[in-house]
Amino acid sequence: MKGLILSGGAGTRLRPITHTSAKQLVPIANKPILFYGIEAMARAGIREIGIVVGHTESEIREAVGDGSTWDVEVTYLPQEAPLGLAHAVLIARDFLGDEPFVMYLGDNMLEQDLGQFVDGFTGGIASGPSARILLKKVPNPRMFGVAEMDASGAISRLVEKPDEPLSDLALVGVYLFGSKIHEAVRSITPSERGELEITDAIQWLIDRGDVVDHHELHGWWIDTGKKDPLLECNQLVLESLSTSITGSIEGSSTIDGEVVIGAGSRIVDSHLRGPLVVGEDTVVEGSELGPFASIGDRCEVRGSCIRHSVLLDGVRVSNLTDLTRSLIGREAVVEGPSSTTVKLMVGDHSVVSL
Ligand code: TTP
Repeated sequence: MKGLILSGGAGTRLRPITHTSAKQLVPIANKPILFYGIEAMARAGIREIGIVVGHTESEIREAVGDGSTWDVEVTYLPQEAPLGLAHAVLIARDFLGDEPFVMYLGDNMLEQDLGQFVDGFTGGIASGPSARILLKKVPNPRMFGVAEMDASGAISRLVEKPDEPLSDLALVGVYLFGSKIHEAVRSITPSERGELEITDAIQWLIDRGDVVDHHELHGWWIDTGKKDPLLECNQLVLESLSTSITGSIEGSSTIDGEVVIGAGSRIVDSHLRGPLVVGEDTVVEGSELGPFASIGDRCEVRGSCIRHSVLLDGVRVSNLTDLTRSLIGREAVVEGPSSTTVKLMVGDHSVVSL
């Protein structure tokens, strides 16, 4: 079994962050989203992983390297343009060969391990399903690709963002395929939005009489491609944090709940309300942090209250009474004085004076 992680794409829904960096490298609890996917594959016993990359290739290569950190072997697969999820399979043909593979959207996060999903899947080589999809019950199926079932409970149709959904089972961004998918992705044509859709390729298999089975996911699943789901994901991951303090806690500082404070960081005269994580060489002074704050490396937070937010590396925040539901890009500066609640999405290297 091989792994295919899709880490190209345009990332329009996460602008301005994606103007300057890859959305798959935005940190959740101070670890890039993409790393969670690689770890999930490694835990499921997958050793050969192809990563589809687009214009952010060099950044992703620099972060992931050859995969030895996770004891996996990474091959980079450049995609000339984000022409669709099925197009990513098309360009990965040589890497994948005829082996079954797990395809994983690089900006998706799952609570549940991949192990039980992968177990027993052979890609229909001798018998069994030629594809397996992962489904999750959602309250708002109109926003997702949805799977419809026939009377026997088998998948009959996949519909993208249906107006009148016949089921509340959304397609999660993790798929298992056997080699028949290669013929499917070659056979379909681009959709109205000009992309080769993976749902069309799976539908092609179903229409030809191939068995596509499914597993229902019970843990959480988040497509982090937009700010609010990304912050929600940060919250969910922080909820299982355990305290680890390497930096120094100084002056009148107090701590409630689980916190991680990295090496070289200083918390001075501040109140920390976990769960929260602070990276390395960051200074927090005269501030309140948390709950659900992820603060990167080399940041400075002074005279501010920050909750439910993600600050990337090198951010400086000062004199903000209530910064919440915010995603702040690398090296950005957000400065008050401001005594109101502020919710921001700030691009790398930007300066916001309130
Ligand atoms: P999407 O989030 O569906 O697409 P996108 O990244 O272009 O974002 P937006 O809709 O905001 O413009 O992509 C899911 C994942 O698959 C993501 O990690 C990017 C990746 N991807 C590719 O690698 N190649 C592609 O052709 C596409 C469409 C996505």
